[in-house]
Amino acid sequence: MKKYDFLVIGSGMAGLSFALRVADKGKVAILTKSTIGETNTSYAQGGIASVTYKPDNFEKHVHDTLIAGNGLCDEKVVHMVVNEAPKQIQELIKWGTQFDTDNNGRFDLAREGGHSEHRILHHKDDTGFEIQRALIERTKQHSNIDIYEQFFAIDIITQHHLGELIKWRYSNIECYGVYALDIKNKKVVKFLSRVTMMATGGTGNLYSTTTNPSIATGDGIAMVYRAKGTVENMEFVQFHPTSLYNPGERPSFLISEAMRGFGGILKTIDEKEFMHRYDKRGSLAPRDIVARAIDHEMKIRGDDYVYLDCRHLDADSLLLHFPNIYEKCKILGIDITKDYIPVVPAAHYMCGGVKVDMDGQTVINRLYAAGETTCTGLHGANRLASNSLLEAIVYADKAAKHALKYFKKYTLNNKIPEWFAHGVRHPEEMVLITQSYKEVQQIFSIYVGIVRSHVRLKRSLDRLEIIYNETEKLYQKSILTVQLCELRNIINVGYLIIKAAMRREESRGLHYNIDFPPEKGPKIEI
Ligand code: FAD
Ligand code: SIN
Repeated sequence: MKKYDFLVIGSGMAGLSFALRVADKGKVAILTKSTIGETNTSYAQGGIASVTYKPDNFEKHVHDTLIAGNGLCDEKVVHMVVNEAPKQIQELIKWGTQFDTDNNGRFDLAREGGHSEHRILHHKDDTGFEIQRALIERTKQHSNIDIYEQFFAIDIITQHHLGELIKWRYSNIECYGVYALDIKNKKVVKFLSRVTMMATGGTGNLYSTTTNPSIATGDGIAMVYRAKGTVENMEFVQFHPTSLYNPGERPSFLISEAMRGFGGILKTIDEKEFMHRYDKRGSLAPRDIVARAIDHEMKIRGDDYVYLDCRHLDADSLLLHFPNIYEKCKILGIDITKDYIPVVPAAHYMCGGVKVDMDGQTVINRLYAAGETTCTGLHGANRLASNSLLEAIVYADKAAKHALKYFKKYTLNNKIPEWFAHGVRHPEEMVLITQSYKEVQQIFSIYVGIVRSHVRLKRSLDRLEIIYNETEKLYQKSILTVQLCELRNIINVGYLIIKAAMRREESRGLHYNIDFPPEKGPKIEI
């Protein structure tokens, strides 16, 4: 058994920045199911949005966020996050993050889809890696922080595990910590804490093609859902318009939207521009519109990809700003200064998740959440590019401030039993798990993708139910493995996505259902 003041699940931007902010006041454990650096955060390319110089201002950033979010953003939250951004950038710099500057020492601000100004601070085209590097260094230096790599959080501990009969009123439920699988030693360890922070990131691996690394299996959302927390906006799955077309590669390599912000233009394989037919903002329209347009062009033309054309851009500047993309493409025989880049949409970001208030509190007492695993109200029906790193750091800060005020009033619960393995547990053929995982990914890619319909959603639910029943049986009798837990989690998260998509009887933002054509904008029928 391990005992801490603060228990943090996840080592990305949200988890590490929360840990750094509370560590001076108490003992902190950070659990990560992989190595500390294997996070969505590390893969972020474009950067982090913040108003920095005139003519940009907070109102413009707020306005762009609200337009992208398509009427479903919480305006109070948008104002709060946008206003907090400059302060958070200073904090990141203080922790050691380097952002690119120009010859005059001013930040070199990039632009991405849906932004009316250049406002993306970046470190070349590997901003997330740079942020993660700085946060890891800081975290490792702090004597109050213990890092547990290869520890997989299975479930949060609540009164449910005490066998107490509780009325399922949200306000009654308390989080006492988590049960986690020590992957190397194959043992379940009980972590008790005064407060817990859920920062487990996204859900990209529900789909066959994703920019997310394999850790993104929606574990936090599934854990909170099983513990009777509130989960919202799950129908809004963001597909990035431009991942590199390279069949078989997983995760899909991202071709940053900043390249379109830099002047890159989308074209069909016969070298014709098409985005103006879908939106007057062309290749820099918000992501939902661009991804849908590409998907539509590929379907009607029968093509496997479209092109991003950067050949007309200044080659030296292109190399300076996008060295990693240049190198990656070069390995595949594509010179981005001379050749077209083949691109396709890929599942990228979950806009919905665990509902939190403006202090990062979930409806479960003593449980906070931050980052991609949450639904804060910032993104609404579609996230504005580069607003997610910002959201993660702002909410980790808000949660830290709140937790620091109250954590001492909570005591560790000494009555928590050890992990209970129900029934006879024996090894199961791994193929049963891996095959079901692939089937879930196929179901989601085909029926719950960029364009949906009643029939597709119904079919996906029927198929998922079969896999759900098989998996629950397996879970009752098999030895616990990460693969089995992740399969369970993506099924739980998938169920939430389908149900939310079925409930939304309209097309809005990232949720497009051909049975509800939008009032405005081009109608897409396949
Ligand atoms: P993550 O960084 O994903 O961290 C999740 C952590 O939780 C990991 O440590 C993981 O191991 C751990 N974890 C998960 N489940 C468990 C479990 N059961 N037990 C223990 N540990 C667990 N956003 C931007 O704003 N700007 C960008 O330019 C940008 N570019 C992107 C490019 C790519 C290719 C991708 C994939 C995303 C990009 N995003 C970008 C989105 C952004 O990176 C993420 O939304 C953000 O980093 C999420 O941070 P996080 O801390 O919430 O989660
Ligand atoms: C990108 O660089 O295109 C990703 C930006 C984001 O997802 O916010």
